[in-house]
Amino acid sequence: MMSRLGQSIAEGEWDDMDGTMMLAERKPLFRGHQRLVFQHPEQSDLLIKVLRVEYVQEKYGPNGSFHNRCRRCREYQPFFMEFREYLVACARAPSCLPYIQEIVGLVWTDLGLGLIVRKISARDGASAPTLDRFLRLHGKLDPERKRLLDDCLRCLEESDVIVDDLNDCNLVLGVDHTGTERFVLIDGIGSSTLVPIKAFSALANRWSKRRRIARLRARIEAKEQGRLA
Ligand SMILES: Nc1ncnc2c1ncn2[C@@H]1O[C@H](COP(=O)(O)OP(=O)(O)OP(=O)(O)O)[C@@H](O)[C@H]1O
Ligand SMILES: [Mg+2]
Repeated sequence: MMSRLGQSIAEGEWDDMDGTMMLAERKPLFRGHQRLVFQHPEQSDLLIKVLRVEYVQEKYGPNGSFHNRCRRCREYQPFFMEFREYLVACARAPSCLPYIQEIVGLVWTDLGLGLIVRKISARDGASAPTLDRFLRLHGKLDPERKRLLDDCLRCLEESDVIVDDLNDCNLVLGVDHTGTERFVLIDGIGSSTLVPIKAFSALANRWSKRRRIARLRARIEAKEQGRLA
């Protein structure tokens, strides 16, 4: 295996001489539409998210929109959005922090910049299942899990945090260090609109989140009733 600087890297090593993390030859834990999610090679409680080449090409490549190509952070715009919103949560809504994934930092990898985040784990130590997966496995949410979901959604709705992608694949059901279960949003924070209306108007932000929550609830109900695969 060769590093970014052309040095050869021994089998099993995970960074090259200049600190670039080598992920390209590792198998991702998850493949989202936008990102590949890798286990951190050294720390079991961390994940690294890198952007998928196909996604970057489609959105920010020569055939992407003028608007996207002009973005100052280019393909790293999604990281920028998420970072900024995480800071909003830290500054204005710390009570929400248990309900959104913790951003730990950035690392340079052989697949581009990687976002390091805290892994949400299930009781057995594996990655926590998404709400979508939970519904596929169990058919429905029991009253206790319903209450946990309500707690998470209420906290997000009442906060200043902008949530522009709320769906059952972005919510996972994990346990914290005390073993208490909780739903956590692992993707979808930050404003994706050109004019940041929701950042200026708490009312617009609240209204938008209410609509998204209502849509999510309708989707959960449809899945519980077998109307949606
Ligand atoms: N912090 C985390 N803890 C545990 N699992 C996670 C975490 N972040 C992501 N995952 C897992 O990785 C999957 C993909 O992550 P993520 O949603 O960030 O990628 P994405 O490409 O933006 O996804 P998509 O565009 O398909 O929604 C999630 O559905 C979840 O199963
Ligand atoms: Mg996602």
